[in-house]
Amino acid sequence: MPQNIFILTGAGISAESGLGTFRDKRGEGIWARFDPMKLATPEAFARDPEAVLAFYDLRRRNLRDAKPNAAHFALARLEHALARRGETLTLVTQNIDDLHERTGSASVIHMHGELLKARCERCEALRPWLDDLTISDVCPDCGRAGTMRPHVVWFGEMPLGMDLIDRALREADLFVAIGASGAVYPAAGFVAEARAYGLRTCEINLEAADNADLFDEQRLGSASGTVPAWVEELVGP
Ligand code: APR
Repeated sequence: MPQNIFILTGAGISAESGLGTFRDKRGEGIWARFDPMKLATPEAFARDPEAVLAFYDLRRRNLRDAKPNAAHFALARLEHALARRGETLTLVTQNIDDLHERTGSASVIHMHGELLKARCERCEALRPWLDDLTISDVCPDCGRAGTMRPHVVWFGEMPLGMDLIDRALREADLFVAIGASGAVYPAAGFVAEARAYGLRTCEINLEAADNADLFDEQRLGSASGTVPAWVEELVGP
């Protein structure tokens, strides 16, 4: 029976790559140090664009120094092994880093956007953006200055790819959430949708997520150990 797997990843899969998580029990998460309402909403960008851009510049520089970990490599291996068997992996991430792509994951759906891209608010052009982004930067497509913003979904904005995500969820047999706290919707609601569609569900996490009771199976531990072990069980060494 072909196995189509739907995986949702959260900040926990990139934690061991040195990129922070947003909420953790020790109160050291990104949102414990930075106020999301001042740095991750359209209103904040309109009110103080330089503060918002500086926040994403800092995270873009951190990402340049980060390296994928064994969990990212394992998911890329899983995708290619399933494809060889005529099965599919749909990889949806809440993360805005490019660590999945750097290990060869081919079709990543970034539902919260991508830190290494910028978008023109005037002509909607989307461009790779690896350096700092300033309010005086000019849109490479329409030539207007001051219209470029990070291609990141802010609080109050609609996540990306939701139709594609719903279609993939309906066609899958197994839903796995990796390093996701279950704190933010709509991603936190995917497990309930998966159950309604008859999928088996599995949580791989360091600590139980807020929606942990909705999962059939739970594997606790650091992603760099738990994810490669899980992939090896599925597709061998
Ligand atoms: N291995 C596996 N899981 C880990 C690890 C690790 N080494 N370290 C932390 N985790 C888990 C935590 O147990 C937690 O469940 O990662 C999760 C981190 O939770 P959050 O910081 O809330 O991250 P996430 O679930 O991705 O947040 C969702 O909230 O603010 C928005 O846009 C932001 O995409 C983000 C969304």
